Amino acid sequence: MSTVIKNGTIVTADLTCKADVLVDGGKIVEIGPDLKGDETLDATGCYVMPGGIDPHTHLEMPFMGTYSSDDFESGTRAALSGGTTMVVDFALPSPEQGLLDALQMWDNKSTRAHCDYSFHMAITWWSEQVFNEMQTVVQERGITSFKHFMAYKGALMVNDDEMYASFKRCSELGAIPLVHAENGDVVAELQRKLLEEGNNGPEAHAYSRPPEVEGEATNRAIMIADMAGVPLYVVHVSCEEAHEAIRRARMLGKRVWGEPLIQHLTLDESEYAHPDWDHAARRVMSPPFRNQKHQDSLWNGLASGSLSCVATDHCAFTTEQKRYGVGDFTKIPNGTGGLEDRLPMLWTHGVGTGRLTPNEFVAVTSTNIAKILNCYPRKGAVLVGADADLVVWDPEKEKTISAASQQSAIDYNVFEGKTVKGLPRFTLTRGRVAVNDGEFVGQEGHGEFVRREPNGAVNKALSSWKELTAPRKVERTGIPASGV
Ligand code: URP
Ligand code: ZN
Ligand code: ZN
Ligand code: ZN
Repeated sequence: MSTVIKNGTIVTADLTCKADVLVDGGKIVEIGPDLKGDETLDATGCYVMPGGIDPHTHLEMPFMGTYSSDDFESGTRAALSGGTTMVVDFALPSPEQGLLDALQMWDNKSTRAHCDYSFHMAITWWSEQVFNEMQTVVQERGITSFKHFMAYKGALMVNDDEMYASFKRCSELGAIPLVHAENGDVVAELQRKLLEEGNNGPEAHAYSRPPEVEGEATNRAIMIADMAGVPLYVVHVSCEEAHEAIRRARMLGKRVWGEPLIQHLTLDESEYAHPDWDHAARRVMSPPFRNQKHQDSLWNGLASGSLSCVATDHCAFTTEQKRYGVGDFTKIPNGTGGLEDRLPMLWTHGVGTGRLTPNEFVAVTSTNIAKILNCYPRKGAVLVGADADLVVWDPEKEKTISAASQQSAIDYNVFEGKTVKGLPRFTLTRGRVAVNDGEFVGQEGHGEFVRREPNGAVNKALSSWKELTAPRKVERTGIPASGV
């Protein structure tokens, strides 16, 4: 059965035009005037855009003694409700667990997804087994991005030697390394000191992770990537210090991409000063929310192109889970939700304020990441032949965000009470209508895994570091006898 989206204005990363879109067999089959289909979706007054791609989620992830509470069912239901049609989740081996073993767990969990998904693989420890399995992950499993945690000391953190080895392996395989950039050693020391001084509340979480720890780690990761000859993707960039490092690297011709989160763009550090413990703890995530100066930096980066993609890092914990950290902020599970709210919040605070154009909105919510992760134009495009992952966006539709009406399984929403203007009228996942006039009508298990190939076009850092320092042995005539 074919579906035609009529009377809308197509908005992509690089053009705006009035045309109908005909969808059949899960694909876009025709774009043009006066198209007919078996079923018609009226897009009058709406923008027809590529569905959002969230490059950073943690669904049902074992973390800090518990599991994040949204799974692939509720997580992708939230995603589609907010206009996001693909998520990229992190397969996370526990230390000593093999990559393929962890991947099996993620394969099992993801069968319930309502929309398409892909995975990044996390490198949480280093060994010959990990080195070998990386090849299978890339070449047989179609996962071409590897995440490294520079924080969470004693749990997920990798050291510089491990990171360098893994980055070099990524270079050989044509894969892209990702980093969570915070100096985990300094964070651990600041946490220890704060607790010793009796600072055990959620506000201390922010004190233990100042912008400097993020700036330092971002610079370090960029230099290590350069030495390994790979591009680099920096997740959850929250501050000017990290953004500045990325901007400078890009100016020098390095392929470094930065990903701010919708939470850091729209919520600030005053959340941690809230007198209610639960309110503050629910907003504990790493890096923490920052002040206006940092928020402005992130918005400017999106507009100017020095930052590339807006994500959520959706890692949702209930209030009960957050309370594991009463009396010790280091035990509050780190993470916040946002899957349903990313597009409406970015539209409202970006397009609605004039900080972003609608085309830039599409670029940073969908197209840029599809290109970086090498699934463009199957995803992130409104083109004949592309998957019909589409959102029919009503710029006049308003709502007030509330946990009472959200899809996420948790009992609160960090954006509670915020009014958004700009919401999906329809969301389509591979041609299937999953949101109809704002109502969720998706199908559990409809989502498919999106396999990706190494991206030859981007798998190169432009630095000449390797050539400049290629070891050249000096022939010498006089070599003194050894010893004293
Ligand atoms: O606090 C956060 N960001 N939790 C999720 C895991 C991570 O660091 O991305
Ligand atoms: Zn992280
Ligand atoms: Zn994350
Ligand atoms: Zn289906």
